[in-house]
Amino acid sequence: MQITSFEQYEADYKKSVENPEQFWGEVAQNFQWRKPWYKVLSWDFTGPNIKWFEGAKLNITENCLDRHLATNGDKPAIIWEPNDPEQDSVTLTYKMLHERVCRFANVLKRNGAKKGDRICIYMPMVPELAIAVLACARIGAVHSVVFGGFSAKSIADRINDAACKLVITADGAYRGNKQIPLKDVIDDALIGCPTVEKCIVLTHVRTPVSMLKGRDVWWEDEVKHVNDVCEAEEMDAEDLLFILYTSGSTGKPKGVVHTCGGYMVYAGYTFSNVFNYQPGEVYFCTADIGWITGHSYIVYGPLSQGATSLIFEGIPTFPTPSRFWDVVEKHKVNTLYTAPTAIRSLMSFGDEPLNGKDLSSIRVLGSVGEPINEEAWHWFDEKIGKGKAPIVDTWWQTETGGIMISPIATVTPTKPSFATLPLPGIQPILVDENGNEIEGNGVSGNLCIKFPWPGMLRTTYGDHERCKQTYFSTYENLYFTGDGCLRDEDGYYRITGRVDDVLNVSGHRIGTAEVENAINMHAGVIESAVVGYPHDVKGQGIYAFVIFPEMHGDVELTKKDILQTVTRVIGAIAKPDKVLFVSGLPKTRSGKIMRRILRKIAEGETSNLGDISTLLDPNVVQEIIESAAKA
Ligand code: WTA
Repeated sequence: MQITSFEQYEADYKKSVENPEQFWGEVAQNFQWRKPWYKVLSWDFTGPNIKWFEGAKLNITENCLDRHLATNGDKPAIIWEPNDPEQDSVTLTYKMLHERVCRFANVLKRNGAKKGDRICIYMPMVPELAIAVLACARIGAVHSVVFGGFSAKSIADRINDAACKLVITADGAYRGNKQIPLKDVIDDALIGCPTVEKCIVLTHVRTPVSMLKGRDVWWEDEVKHVNDVCEAEEMDAEDLLFILYTSGSTGKPKGVVHTCGGYMVYAGYTFSNVFNYQPGEVYFCTADIGWITGHSYIVYGPLSQGATSLIFEGIPTFPTPSRFWDVVEKHKVNTLYTAPTAIRSLMSFGDEPLNGKDLSSIRVLGSVGEPINEEAWHWFDEKIGKGKAPIVDTWWQTETGGIMISPIATVTPTKPSFATLPLPGIQPILVDENGNEIEGNGVSGNLCIKFPWPGMLRTTYGDHERCKQTYFSTYENLYFTGDGCLRDEDGYYRITGRVDDVLNVSGHRIGTAEVENAINMHAGVIESAVVGYPHDVKGQGIYAFVIFPEMHGDVELTKKDILQTVTRVIGAIAKPDKVLFVSGLPKTRSGKIMRRILRKIAEGETSNLGDISTLLDPNVVQEIIESAAKA
């Protein structure tokens, strides 16, 4: 199933469009099924109703673990590099990982978990996080991993939305020279989570935590009570595998649902191809397992292909900005998959952190999460890849389950800042505002996908209508991505960024409405409007315009109060970079905030704000411009 030439890519692509069922049926043969499907695909985008590999039975962990035991049991599945470089790294072979997953799966059962139950995971980047994820899949429980940077309130919202029965966490996490008290945050969250019966706590940072009788148990104690034999639960191809919450332009984050069969095939196929993974290589994806990139390209994709996946607990700049390069050298990393924000951040330290570092093991480089600017692309290419490692700029989304538009390493000629061409099976189309297809090359428009692929979301948890509204209603019979896109003269795709009210801050998706709701929870705030603005390292920064009429004390202190409120409500990742107090917001007569104007002001524009004649009170614009200039 690995594509090795551009001609083969073209042939496979053609086949995947002309005969998708045959194409994916053949790809799926490369995986292990308990029972085959009777139909590869049935679908309509109006429901939407999407089914892949109908009738098939499997367990994804048999593909990620059991099937490698006979031939590759002693091969490293996971290499763990801790936050503190002085601490030893850990290697788990496939045999060891299999044993630990089975053991922990029995712990989950012992604590009442069954097939179909939802389990929230809030953990540091340690091997036990991957073990917890796989143990859920082993018993057919649905995992909902929440990134370690989210607040108690965000966790509680996610737990309640999915009515989770169990929580798996740790005493704390290290992040550079900081510690995050994960268990304290979970304790706060669980005050408002009546469905949670048990909380399993891993010892990691060894700080004191409170353990509630009857609810909280230690991971280390629990594993002593069970053995390591755990038959995998037989799952239907369309049974739920996991829920992952992601932000949209309105309302609360939604639980994107992925199912067992299609997701497995898509994650495995795209991993093997995009990175041109070769047996024995060490693959390092720097994302957190709390995001989709970690699900698909640290855990499921690589392990389904018997790869060695490196899990890094720390951050690129701790203890020094050489850390990534030290990790690459130490573990002889062959593939490095990271985010433009990390590249730009490391680039800002100049060449010094690279001096004396042996990066010769690197063969393939990858980028994900946001558009990569040309400067960062060239730096990555020249300084890290030494001009020899192809860069795969991979465009995809939580909803797509896996990479959609991307070069195939060693196969597709790359072009800086272009995600290049759709992978086999992916049929992108550009449309105008009215949903008319924009044909030909040298054009731009809104990016949609017109045919299903195995890794696509099936629904949003507990609210199918919302899934329909968000993704399948903007344009008839199309999946709408929310991204703007250009297709150049060569037919290459370049993603230009979101066209909806979703921000991309350091590669993290954040809804403007979510941040506004958080700011508005501050007692003194009447109203707020949040927009993104270009930021050198983060890609986008968050700019908040806030109406706060009765300022009692210090303006700076009030700003900090607002940031603290956002941290409490969402998490530190959503903290605005700039807060500007204003007396009014530019609104139309129907009361709609004109963000277009605020975006321009946030970018530093003072004239050319476009038509402001439809505003209820055009004077407010001048006032905002003046206070922005002073700030
Ligand atoms: C953006 C992350 C440009 C895009 C896997 C998308 C990108 C959103 C790229 C999804 C890329 C992701 N080039 N933009 N290579 N990759 N994006 O759900 O706006 O966290 O819609 O999934 O990130 O973010 P999500």
